[in-house]
Amino acid sequence: MSAIPVITVDGPSGSGKGVISQWLAQKLGWHLLDSGALYRLLALAAEKHSLSLSDIVRLVELAQKLDIQFDTQSAEGVITFLAGEDVSLALRTEECARNASQVAAIPEVRTALLERQRAFRQVPGLVADGRDMGTVVFPDAELKIFLTASAAERARRRHKQLNQKGISANLAALSEEIRARDERDQNRAVSPLKPAANAIILDTTHMGIDAVCQAAYTKVQELKLLTA
Ligand code: DC
Repeated sequence: MSAIPVITVDGPSGSGKGVISQWLAQKLGWHLLDSGALYRLLALAAEKHSLSLSDIVRLVELAQKLDIQFDTQSAEGVITFLAGEDVSLALRTEECARNASQVAAIPEVRTALLERQRAFRQVPGLVADGRDMGTVVFPDAELKIFLTASAAERARRRHKQLNQKGISANLAALSEEIRARDERDQNRAVSPLKPAANAIILDTTHMGIDAVCQAAYTKVQELKLLTA
């Protein structure tokens, strides 16, 4: 057990995890772990090294020495660097998400990235966003939130998000991508996407971002995490 508090925010793509986690981390002045970015970065690094996504040995080697940096101080949001190169945009494409889901299904890759994720737990606290934050990476987290939303609403949100980033996407194709990815994330043998037994489940289908942030923050206050 660590004395440093953690809030985990898990859920499928487009459930609102990213926005809520960023908001909470900023509100509390805590660190933020976007664990999906690690899987996306690994997928991107594999592509740059022309590695096959089924070459487990080399993928694990790559995961162990992944040279990444996050600049959280920028006004444009988090800027992500892979071996010194700004890959923030490449990281958010659907191709990268698909490849990330594929490498994330490999147990050896998950093990290779485990300690790296736990190292983000630093004072005064951590908000961790992902699929297995509450179940595997931080099972002792003080607060575990699991967000859900209907598949149609999640596809709509993702579509809007990509458009805002200037990435064009077709809504029907996006829905199908999300469905396939959710299925792989939920049914993989290791660390499947599922709520921790003690998670608070929030269905955000009909909730605006502000309402979800407020619901999460109310829980933080109830648990008195700020004085921990
Ligand atoms: O949250 P995201 O869309 O950036 O995640 C990209 C992929 O990585 C997604 O298909 C699921 C996988 N992932 C995972 O398996 N475990 C995590 N903790 C985070 C993401």
